[in-house]
Amino acid sequence: MHTMELRLRKKRIFPMLLLLLLVGVLSLDYVSAQNRINRQRGNILKNLTRTHEYDNHIVTSQLDASTPIRMFYRGFREVYNRLLGPTGGRLQGAFLQPHVMPNVPFPCDTRGMRSSKVPTSVHQLRPGDIDIISAVGDSLTSATAANSIALWELLIENRGLAWCIGGQGTWRTHLTLPNIIKEFNPKLFGYSLFDSYNVHHTAQFNVAENIATTTDMPYNAAKLVDRMKLDPRVKWEKHWKLLTFMIGGNDFCSDVCYQTNATEWINEVQEKYLIKTLLYLKHNMPRTIVNLVPTPLISLSFSMDKAPHLPFSCYLSRPIECSCLFGPRYSHRRNLYHQLERNFAKIMERVSYLPDFHSDDFTVVYQPFFKEASVFYQRDGKADMSIMSVDCVHLSQKGHAVSANGLWNNMLEPTGSKTVGFRKLFEDFKCPTVANPYIRTYFNS
Ligand SMILES: *[C@@H]1O[C@H](CO)[C@@H](O)[C@H](O)[C@H]1NC(C)=O
Ligand SMILES: *[C@@H]1O[C@H](CO)[C@@H](O)[C@H](O)[C@H]1NC(C)=O
Repeated sequence: MHTMELRLRKKRIFPMLLLLLLVGVLSLDYVSAQNRINRQRGNILKNLTRTHEYDNHIVTSQLDASTPIRMFYRGFREVYNRLLGPTGGRLQGAFLQPHVMPNVPFPCDTRGMRSSKVPTSVHQLRPGDIDIISAVGDSLTSATAANSIALWELLIENRGLAWCIGGQGTWRTHLTLPNIIKEFNPKLFGYSLFDSYNVHHTAQFNVAENIATTTDMPYNAAKLVDRMKLDPRVKWEKHWKLLTFMIGGNDFCSDVCYQTNATEWINEVQEKYLIKTLLYLKHNMPRTIVNLVPTPLISLSFSMDKAPHLPFSCYLSRPIECSCLFGPRYSHRRNLYHQLERNFAKIMERVSYLPDFHSDDFTVVYQPFFKEASVFYQRDGKADMSIMSVDCVHLSQKGHAVSANGLWNNMLEPTGSKTVGFRKLFEDFKCPTVANPYIRTYFNS
């Protein structure tokens, strides 16, 4: 009898705690309901953890819709980050890229790769002409779990290591797009500095948010523009900006299976959000070049079906993080979703060509290297699970480095001959040349 009672009591403690928390959050919600949704008051634990936050908070629109959920989520992850992080500074592990020795020079000659006069055309940008770097996207752009070694560290975002927007260390320790561009222009700014959530100052101009889908991109883009314009370092009309826009993973992992007509949703509804976001950027962000990138997430997932062996943790995390593909309920539709995802990459490419998005001041370039992302390297076909994080969904730091290498190469490759798939780190590292010094666009290729 006694043990039974004890067990019952133990069982009740958790729901009781939850109930208390809910009452607390709901009463706070009542207070804030007086002036509707107030983004400034998103995080109830802000002062407790003393993190520096931007005033214009950003969360995905789904979470934003409900104040209690938003407050709970923010507070929870703030404490979580404090207790379990940081992890971004780890220096040892198979999930890290091998360090490049100081006696090895940077692969490219950087001389003359910043114009002596600020260019007036986006089609004449040398890598060093980029002054500001930025990103919108999802958990792959927030570098979620890049340096995690256990599942309980999954919610830590190693933004400083993110392939297209992390600027921690140098290219020798962390190959990222900003760390490459820094070699051409040491005054580059906007890149994330270290572990952080998108509301933290450390995140800088990386407004990527976990669980975000294409639907969230118009909102995230608008918040990015707000944040940049409010930054005293930014000369809005003068500085050249690079924005990497990669999205789609969660559309397929978490949302597609709940749509009444998945085909219609992907092919029509999500395409509209994509166009809406790019139109907004075109009209609001002068002097900008956009890298439009398809998600590698689905392609990577399918490639892992053929991998020699997966860590046990993958079988726990994948049905939760990517329930539409790995949950038992919708597994019979996996191939349909795979097909739709291939199609969405084509939609992205087609959209990138729309004349509305191109002028001397603004351009969009579809960068396809992620399209055939796989844990098997492109050249020798060898599997390398160390590019994946512990959850088999996100990329490890090494995976981020391989991705940065791929994106950089695509930026220097002319339209029509851009490489796809992953190469081993530094196996193929493109450089601008005197004959072809410009970042490639559809008009200078
Ligand atoms: C947090 O601290 C700031 C500055 O110290 C103060 O202005 C603000 O009212 C505090 N917020 C809360 C919710 O206590
Ligand atoms: C889903 O939408 C597509 C395109 O609008 C349509 O052709 C198809 O018949 C629809 N499927 C179902 C099951 O309603």
